[in-house]
Amino acid sequence: MIELTSKEQQAGNRVCLALDVPTVREAVNLSSELSDYVGIFKVGKQLHTAACNEGVPIVNEIYKRGGNTFLDLKLHDTPNTVYEASKACSVPGVYMFNIHIGESGKLMCEKAVEGAEKGAQENYLILGRPKVIGVTVLTSISNSDLEEEGIFTKYDDLVRRRTELARDWGLDGVVCPASKAGALEKEFGSDFLYVTPGIKWAGVRREGQKQLYTPDKAVQDCTSSILVIGGAITTAKDRRKAAYEILQAMAKHL
Ligand code: C5P
Repeated sequence: MIELTSKEQQAGNRVCLALDVPTVREAVNLSSELSDYVGIFKVGKQLHTAACNEGVPIVNEIYKRGGNTFLDLKLHDTPNTVYEASKACSVPGVYMFNIHIGESGKLMCEKAVEGAEKGAQENYLILGRPKVIGVTVLTSISNSDLEEEGIFTKYDDLVRRRTELARDWGLDGVVCPASKAGALEKEFGSDFLYVTPGIKWAGVRREGQKQLYTPDKAVQDCTSSILVIGGAITTAKDRRKAAYEILQAMAKHL
């Protein structure tokens, strides 16, 4: 086993591994395999639903093995429903969960934070409530998708505006594209989290792969981001090697 330097450990704390797998067994195997390289595990709707079907509390399974979870359920509902759902998200092991900012309104966002606080009290969470993160705009959306919906604000401007609202409404951070995190941090501060998916890693940058947003570039751009990484690690031939190389690359810029 490789001993990590303190910078590499710091880097690991900023990596959130997406457990995009269909069974609890695969998720638990992945989290056990990579727990010394990864600070947080992302449980999204696929795994969360699969775990419900299997009757297994997935957050607790990860927590029992020492792992923290980002519960990526993207809550979006009436304020009271979000309050109750947020309360239910506040269990031991959940480091953060998320809600949609768009078409949600201030009250829904405030209720999410209140629900998280209430759940943390009821469950005696010693570290306090989970962080509540707002999804700005899904990275799968384009300007023409927005126009089709009657939204004529450009993608980048909408990401910025929703980040501003997330701050004003008391959230702890946003999900935003890695390429936007640096500029957002400059404007909205580093006491706020920028959770960035879309991170790729080719090991060695080859010709024709300049468009990849790499982990080293992501940490150079933004000091308070958490990098959501899935396939770059999980589909690698040697997953531990890929994870370690990513931490090494990030550590150089910390
Ligand atoms: O692509 P990768 O496997 O790293 O994706 C990890 C997670 O990041 C996925 O769960 C996906 O929902 C999210 N993602 C995203 N936007 C992208 C790519 C991935 O939100 N452009």
